Amino acid sequence: MEEMLWVEGGRPLTGEVTLPAAKNSVLPLLAAALLCGGPVTLRGVPRLADVEQSILLLRALGCAVHWPGRDLVVQPPSARPDGTLPEGPVRAMRSSVFYLAPVLHAAGRVSMPMPGGCDLGPRPIDIHLDGLVRMGATVCWQQNSLCLASPPAGLRGADITLRLPSVGATETLLMAAVKAHGATVLRGAACEPEIVDLARFLQACGARITGAGSPVVWVQGVPQLSGADHAPIPDRIVAATAAAAVAGAGGQLLLRGCEEDQLGPVAQVLRNAGCEVASGPDGLTVARGGPLRGVGRVYTGGYPAFATDAAPVVAAGLLTAGGASAFEDTIFENRFSCAEGFAAMGAKVQRRGRALEILGPAQLHGAQVAAPDLRGGAALAVAALAAQGQSRVAGLGHIRRGYEDIAALFCALGAKAGYCQPGG
Ligand code: EPZ
Repeated sequence: MEEMLWVEGGRPLTGEVTLPAAKNSVLPLLAAALLCGGPVTLRGVPRLADVEQSILLLRALGCAVHWPGRDLVVQPPSARPDGTLPEGPVRAMRSSVFYLAPVLHAAGRVSMPMPGGCDLGPRPIDIHLDGLVRMGATVCWQQNSLCLASPPAGLRGADITLRLPSVGATETLLMAAVKAHGATVLRGAACEPEIVDLARFLQACGARITGAGSPVVWVQGVPQLSGADHAPIPDRIVAATAAAAVAGAGGQLLLRGCEEDQLGPVAQVLRNAGCEVASGPDGLTVARGGPLRGVGRVYTGGYPAFATDAAPVVAAGLLTAGGASAFEDTIFENRFSCAEGFAAMGAKVQRRGRALEILGPAQLHGAQVAAPDLRGGAALAVAALAAQGQSRVAGLGHIRRGYEDIAALFCALGAKAGYCQPGG
């Protein structure tokens, strides 16, 4: 039986957190290692379930992977891989889509089932595929497997306009373009910091990229890339989770080495709710001593707007606020499956379309709830910290995809939390 998270809530939090490397940087970076002719070292990689799944994919493709401590080393395959990806890890996470372009370059073909991942509503991959087709790839379906082949001479550069600024598709097409023949322009690209991080890594390997982090990215393909030693950016969603925990439970948090930029619009929403957010020499401090206020309506969006991944956790921190708040997700249809668990803890919430509405102040109490997805699960844990009594959160497997040890994260802030067997 899968372990559960338990949280004894209702006490203010105090302490500090050093952010791990961002999951959403590390996962595309691991796939990008396959583009490299030499070893790739990624620094400070957290032990996440999705990283473990990525390692299974890399090993199946013939890479040697060493991960003795925090730093992870990927050695390129010694022989040309065959291009067929194993079903288990592909279906376990959305990030298996990142292997399309690197495997096309390495093997000339790729065959895999549809990637899995959190159920946040429909998550097609048409923008990834359309872009690869523009670069010369052919796509077909064979017995529930997606099969792509590159032209005999390899992918070629193209001028591609993305239908919408998909983070993953921007990363796929960047990885395709860096080793394609000729120049590529990506228009309508996503601008997330994790894309800039991927570009920075690829540049360190010899790629020629300009404009990453803006809607238009230019790439001049090169025949070979070297390896590199790279420290991925810190995880801004873990930062938002810890900050939201302090907003909900009260207390004070130091996000060591963190700058306000990393919280982005989350910082202003927390200030509107009555928290103090201040930059200092050691990092960013988030504190709440007084009562919480509702923040009105918050819309998520692509960077630099309020991050969709932060919406459930920040909402969780505001469930006890005196006054209404609403979080409307413009990215995913089904972002707030955690609403059911919030209600079980006594929150006055309702889902309306893509929005979660928090109708007014509530006294939260511990409850047994189930994580519906990664950020929804973290949000239930954040709510549990603000609730009187003990809560148990099932579905820890979702949470472990993005948080190495969420109980330890909260315990570093003085919370009482840990893991137990169901019924234990
Ligand atoms: C990335 O997912 C993140 N994952 C997600 O993190 C994050 O929620 C999301 O970006 C938005 O910021 C990783 O980086 C590994 P998208 P991704 O492509 O790339 C539609 C987390 O909790 N779309 O920008 O899959 C799609 O359905 C998560 O860490 C298409 O229609 O997001 C969605 O509505 C989960 N066709 C929207 O675009 C496509 O081909 C944005 O998706 C691709 C996307």
